[in-house]
Amino acid sequence: MNKMRVGVIGGGLMGKEVASAFGRWFVLQDFPVQAELVAVCDVQESVREWFRRVPTVKQLTAHASEVFANPEVDVVYIAVPHHLHESLYIEALRAGKDLLAEKPFGIDLAAAIRIREVAKETGRFVRCSSEFPFMPGALRVMDAVKNGGLGRLLEIRSGFHHSSDLDPLKPVNWKRQVKFCGAIGVMGDLGMHTIHVPFRLGYKPTRVYAQLQKIYHERPDGKGGMAPCDTWDNALLHTDVAVDGNDVPARFEMKRLAPGETNSWFIEVFGTDGGVRYNTKEPKTLHLFERGKEQAWKRLELGHQMAFPVITGGIFEVGFPDILLQMWASFAAERAGLLGHRLGCVTPDEAVASHELFAAALLSHETKTVQLVF
Ligand SMILES: NC(=O)c1ccc[n+]([C@@H]2O[C@H](COP(=O)([O-])OP(=O)(O)OC[C@H]3O[C@@H](n4cnc5c(N)ncnc54)[C@H](O)[C@@H]3O)[C@@H](O)[C@H]2O)c1
Repeated sequence: MNKMRVGVIGGGLMGKEVASAFGRWFVLQDFPVQAELVAVCDVQESVREWFRRVPTVKQLTAHASEVFANPEVDVVYIAVPHHLHESLYIEALRAGKDLLAEKPFGIDLAAAIRIREVAKETGRFVRCSSEFPFMPGALRVMDAVKNGGLGRLLEIRSGFHHSSDLDPLKPVNWKRQVKFCGAIGVMGDLGMHTIHVPFRLGYKPTRVYAQLQKIYHERPDGKGGMAPCDTWDNALLHTDVAVDGNDVPARFEMKRLAPGETNSWFIEVFGTDGGVRYNTKEPKTLHLFERGKEQAWKRLELGHQMAFPVITGGIFEVGFPDILLQMWASFAAERAGLLGHRLGCVTPDEAVASHELFAAALLSHETKTVQLVF
């Protein structure tokens, strides 16, 4: 069996989630690759200590270069603040490691292009993280579009909504400061999740008009004072995508302040004959529109129908750890040349294209004009 030995750089929120995916890799059925977390790097000692509970981890270090130099590591997953993406991704690739990058794949468009260049030059296998399309409902949306029958496309809407920033007393963190998160702000934070499925369906924006909002300009710094909070909080990107020679309106929504939305990822595609709508707020439910003699929205209850079969019962609910495992299975399968017809992770070209959209959105908002994207 193919083995994939992984090193994690950045053991924060996502580094730990990823460790949990490798800890239950054996639930994947007849999967051709065996994955193991063998090395972890984090600059914080308390974070490194946490990883002592993972028995397969043999290397714990504060220096990423030590993981990159480790011949026992095949793949690195790098989950650090955005201003560190470019230098660490490029160092990993030059050291000969394959890479599952985190979004937004560099702090800005120029960084994303440079990372893609090094990926090409080194020939390493590189993909970027985006796990929500592995929800069974999201996969069914893609099937519905690919199978046709929607008629002439009317509208596409895709988004990711959070709400905890509604609280003005929520302390600041690196995701809320431009120097660490990037000038694209919430688009860098939530945007990759929003574009993965539309881009994969061929819905690439040609024009964008963006509305960006900064709501709170400072937040508690956690030490009794206040700190600047200068990132864009909410972004609405009104775009045109060309489908079968027609311009179709597509709206991409990324919000940190959306009342009541804790982690709602959604996509809707409507046509004259059919439509499909899915939101992780109702994780089991797929809404399908059919226009026959009468018009009807059908509500379909889904179970645990994953792209990569697991031992979990077919009627059980799917959650975040399940889709993260699926995303990693997709990465491992594609890396081994065994993806077949299944969904692959975001490619470097798609990541660069997302940055092209976000850069155009910044300019659009600044100038209050429509901007060409590609
Ligand atoms: N795919 C998703 O659903 C998802 C969700 C959240 C965040 N992210 C992305 O993951 C990345 C990390 O976000 P997070 O929420 O895990 O952040 P986090 O702040 O929770 O964790 C980042 C970790 O990186 C460590 N770190 C900082 N500099 C380092 C260095 N030079 N070397 C090694 N470790 C270093 C920090 O000590 C911290 O433990 C970001 O790119 C973010 O956009 C993805």
